Amino acid sequence: MTAACSIRPLTAADAAALLALHKAAAVTPGGLARMPDEITPAYVVGFLEKAAAEGIGLGAWSADGALCGEIHAVRMTPALFGHVLSDLTVAVHPDWQGRGVGSALFGALITAARRLDPPIGRVELMTGAGNIGAIRLYERLGFRHEGRFVGRGRLSDGRVEDDIAMALMLL
Ligand SMILES: CC(C)(COP(=O)(O)OP(=O)(O)OC[C@H]1O[C@@H](n2cnc3c(N)ncnc32)[C@H](O)[C@@H]1OP(=O)(O)O)[C@@H](O)C(=O)NCCC(=O)NCCS
Repeated sequence: MTAACSIRPLTAADAAALLALHKAAAVTPGGLARMPDEITPAYVVGFLEKAAAEGIGLGAWSADGALCGEIHAVRMTPALFGHVLSDLTVAVHPDWQGRGVGSALFGALITAARRLDPPIGRVELMTGAGNIGAIRLYERLGFRHEGRFVGRGRLSDGRVEDDIAMALMLL
């Protein structure tokens, strides 16, 4: 873990900081699915509420109180998939990328997932095929490649990009 950040659950009071974090992280193309103008208060409140009700939402905070990064994911609703944590998004502020925050957030998410009742057996995510650094991080964390969704993403310059489905089994 980076020495300078501590991790705690997100609350509704973090909405403004999350909005700023996501807008900053979205500036770099090829990372987050949403462009900065798609990151709205309604989007942030929506994922905060879902994570609070049926999932996990964690923030990493610097010693001076800045939000360095966040991760959230939601338990799937149908009983058949109730052991699956899905809809995962992770965002680290550009100033903090490459300093262990993303790895620490994943570590904390996996620890929290193991403690949920009923237990989580599977954590899944999707990432753009061009997000090579993120894919390498997920591989290092133990996520496996499960499939490729050809041409799923349309980039702002009109090119299409495949999405890679990855999952980590916890059982
Ligand atoms: C992907 C992301 C969450 C990784 O978090 P991080 O705190 O930068 O990652 P860590 O410092 O814990 O780990 C570093 C690893 O992350 C990967 N990585 C991804 N993007 C990176 C970046 N911009 N800078 C440095 N490392 C990055 C690298 O594989 C690196 O591993 P390496 O040391 O083997 O090269 C973060 O860079 C980010 O928020 N990027 C923009 C949004 C995004 O792409 N979200 C994921 C969508 S699927």
